[in-house]
Order: sequence, then structure tokens, then C-alpha cells
Amino acid sequence: MNILVTGANGQLGMELQELAKKYPNLNFHFTDIHNLDITNLQALKDFSEENNFDFLINCAAYTAVDKAEDEPEKARLLNITAVEYLAEICNLKNATLVHISTDYVFGGQGYKPYKETDKTAPQSTYAITKLGAEEAVKTISKSGIIVRTSWLYSTYGHNFLKTMLRLGKERDELKVVFDQIGTPTYATDLAKAILTVVIAGKQSDNPVEIYHYSNEGVCSWYDFALAIMEESGIKCKVIPITTKEYPLPAERPFYSVLDKSLIKKHFDIEIPHWRESMKSCLQKLNER
Ligand SMILES: NC(=O)c1ccc[n+]([C@@H]2O[C@H](COP(=O)([O-])OP(=O)(O)OC[C@H]3O[C@@H](n4cnc5c(N)ncnc54)[C@H](OP(=O)(O)O)[C@@H]3O)[C@@H](O)[C@H]2O)c1
Repeated sequence: MNILVTGANGQLGMELQELAKKYPNLNFHFTDIHNLDITNLQALKDFSEENNFDFLINCAAYTAVDKAEDEPEKARLLNITAVEYLAEICNLKNATLVHISTDYVFGGQGYKPYKETDKTAPQSTYAITKLGAEEAVKTISKSGIIVRTSWLYSTYGHNFLKTMLRLGKERDELKVVFDQIGTPTYATDLAKAILTVVIAGKQSDNPVEIYHYSNEGVCSWYDFALAIMEESGIKCKVIPITTKEYPLPAERPFYSVLDKSLIKKHFDIEIPHWRESMKSCLQKLNER
């Protein structure tokens, strides 16, 4: 099986690169903007003429949630237009497009975990463009899998966990919002789940299937920050504040817990609790 990964130098892409070593039977082709710019249709066409792939896992995205408010066109180009190109290229190759989306497509006024079929209501430019990408996959792809995930972190790249570790060492106290509720996702676990899905293949007759994947459990950003400090032995005091007290350019959903029943049912996946996965990530960072 040939698998093309785009945006392979980001958090999730790097985890897939690491995991790939354990799958010698799978033939991976890892690319990022320097050798395959997914906003360049001609480059994508040239690449697909020269290379075969059965699956394309798209890890590339415009992920700067606040910056997207100032750069909507850039966000649209990478998050929607490029995904339209990928869907078309996959159709030409009879390949399945695996696209990653976000819990931010939901409005966040709910109180119970969101199912794949629940109504979306994106609140920010980033979220609108990510939902636009989902629409593109649903409209264009003959075969697609959309995996929505939340609060992604890894030993690679920039993320909340690494920011908390840095700030926690620099400061005596940190203020973190306690009224946004969701679930952190360790990108190692997400990468494993994605490969499980790819190896098992489509489990339904729908041309495009959506799945939710995060770690198990629920917390606020405040709880997550507190757990990071506790587990890593950092003596920084974490103070809970409201979103109103820490205004940012992009609105975030207050509640965006994902219901993962479908992916567990279709692929028999066991999902670790967020706190266990966080410990694994901290341990790996310590071993570096
Ligand atoms: N991060 C989160 O908390 C979170 C939460 C929910 C869902 N998601 C979704 O999960 C997916 C993976 O996120 P991530 O955090 O792993 O992303 P990431 O770390 O920002 O990685 C994205 C990668 O795409 C590359 N890229 C940028 N423009 C490109 C282009 N034109 N062509 C090819 N590659 C390009 C980036 O390169 P440069 O670094 O050089 O720009 C980077 O290596 C995304 O779809 C994201 O929306 C993320």
C-alpha cells in the first residue's frame, strides 16, 4: 500500500514519520511545502503523474487560529482551495483522501459530546475554513475519510503543552482559562488511529465518512495546564480565569468534547485517557 503524506513536517506529520518505521509493509511518501506545495495544482498534478498512492493523508493546514482573523485569504487558500485540489487529484488516482479537521467546527454551546452528525457552527475564520475543507471533501471526493480532532499536542512543533512547560519555568504564576472545555489529543495516539483506519480501509458505503478522535476524558485548559505542571514538577501557580478575562482575536467554542463512539465501533480502537497520554509525552520530552 502506497501512502502519500502532505504537510509531513508538522506535529501530526512528524508523528506519522516516526510511526512509519514500525510499518515496513507500508510504503510512505512524506512531503511538505518545500517539495510538494499543496496550493500549487500543477505541482500536485506533476507529482501524481510520477508517483502512485492509494491513500493521501493531508496533515497540512493553516493552523494559526488567531492569525487567521488577519489573513483569511491565506487560511482559505491552504484550508479550502488546496483541499479541493487534493480531492481532485485523489479522484484521478482512485485514492482515498484522509483529511484532518477540528472540534472548532462546532459552536460550543452544547453540554454533551458532539457526534459526527451534530450541527456545525464555526465561530472563527480558521474554523470556517476547516469546515469549508470538509465541504470540499464531501462534495468532490469519491472516497474520503475526515478525522476531526481537538487540542493537538506532541513533542514536535508548537503547542499548548510545550508553551506551558516554557512559561511555567519562566514565571511564578500563569493565568489559564477554565471555561473552555474539551479534550487534549496526543498526536502519537492520533497518528496510530489514522494508520489503523487506513489499514482497515473504509468501513461504510458512504463515499466520505467523518470520524471523531481525541483522547478519552474531559478537561478545561486550566486543568490541562495544572496537570502539566504537576506531572513535570514545575512549581508555577496556575490561576483559573474566564475567556472574557483573556480576550483573543478568534472566538473558541466553550464546549467541544468529541464523541468517539463511531471510530471505536468501526475500528475497535482503544483510546488512552488524556492524562496518561500527557504523561507519555512529558516523559518523551524528558528523554530528549
Ligand atoms: N493543532 C491543533 O491543536 C489542532 C486541533 C484540531 C485539529 N487540528 C488539525 O490537525 C491537522 C494537523 O495539525 P498540526 O498541528 O499537526 O499542524 P502543523 O503542526 O501546523 O503542521 C502543518 C504542516 O503543513 C505545512 N504546510 C504549510 N503550508 C503548506 C503547503 N502549502 N503545502 C504543504 N505543506 C504545508 C507546514 O509547514 P510550515 O510549518 O513550514 O508552515 C507544517 O509542516 C490540521 O489539519 C489541523 O487543522 C489541529
